[in-house]
Amino acid sequence: MKKTIVLLPGDGIGPEVTRAAALVLRECAHEFGHEFDLHDFPIGGAAIDVAGTPLPNETLDACRKADAIFLGAVGGAKWDALPVGQRPESGLLALRKGLGLYVNLRPVKLLDPLRGISPLRPERLGNVDMEIVRELMGGMYFGERGIKTENGVERAWDTESYSTPEIERIATFAYARAENRSRRVCSVDKANVLASSQLWRRTVSALGSVYPEVKLEHMYVDNAAMQLTLRPTQFDIMLTSNMFGDILSDAAAALVGSIGLIPSASFGSQAPLFEPIHGSAPSLVGTDAANPIGSILSTAMMLRDGFGLSLEADWVEQSLQRVLLQGFRTPDIAEPGRKTVAGSLFVETLREEMQRTLEHAERYGWGV
Ligand code: IPM
Ligand code: MG
Repeated sequence: MKKTIVLLPGDGIGPEVTRAAALVLRECAHEFGHEFDLHDFPIGGAAIDVAGTPLPNETLDACRKADAIFLGAVGGAKWDALPVGQRPESGLLALRKGLGLYVNLRPVKLLDPLRGISPLRPERLGNVDMEIVRELMGGMYFGERGIKTENGVERAWDTESYSTPEIERIATFAYARAENRSRRVCSVDKANVLASSQLWRRTVSALGSVYPEVKLEHMYVDNAAMQLTLRPTQFDIMLTSNMFGDILSDAAAALVGSIGLIPSASFGSQAPLFEPIHGSAPSLVGTDAANPIGSILSTAMMLRDGFGLSLEADWVEQSLQRVLLQGFRTPDIAEPGRKTVAGSLFVETLREEMQRTLEHAERYGWGV
């Protein structure tokens, strides 16, 4: 298989986790006889520094021509003083918009060797395996916003707004995804207060008649945050807006151990984008302590959900599982008292383990 992949390392720990993704892709191409052409382009603060804008045209053009995109992270203190619209984060938002990426899929799955680091007691934690389907091109992130001074008083506003077609297309994705899982969708909104949520709820309900097999439940976002902490296993597909999805996915990540573990995939009208959800983590820069797992699992999603290469994705995930079973931990996922390793050593160990997984598979078949 021949694919063109754009890598957008970005800022903070973005470049180091992107190196992990590139290594996995190169190993995969080598072992399975694929041709993956990897091309680096600047985004975020790094792009502001070299090109004066967080999403240069060349970056967007390259992404439009690619088969898939991998993004590390954007943002950092250096650019914090810039106004909304010129910050590194606006490069990512412009990219999502520019590529028509309205679906953001965030699987939150407990990795068995990491069961002990969850803040939840084992009986509450169960076997968390859910997917957050976050709307990615609308809502407050893209609504009308402004800031002005009236009679000496400053006022700023951001608008939450959704149209029926915008809700329908993300709900359609969630329903279809649920059909291939346990056929349950929980739609999260704030319909007791927000008009946009009332339309959201009505539209998601109406679409339910197209998917009679799927059981739909509605939940207010405050209750959903609580239920997530009390009994996360009640959720399978959680469908929600851009803003609520941003918040709930960080909360859900903490339940399975660390925000550093969670991958994501964004789909829409053009090439899909894969990114860990952890962000640029400025405090970790230069310490080689960043957890590469979110990035590695995002790469597995690229292989499986982007290219249909499920065997290759299984190979990456099984190898990762073996590295964890051997006790390798970056600081964010280490049980108290356990020895930790640097992110680079974790990735090097994964590379060796990917070889061993292949040898094992040749002799005994797949499976950890
Ligand atoms: C995420 C991040 C982004 C978002 C930021 C970096 C713009 O928090 O992907 O969750 O808010 O969508
Ligand atoms: Mg976020």
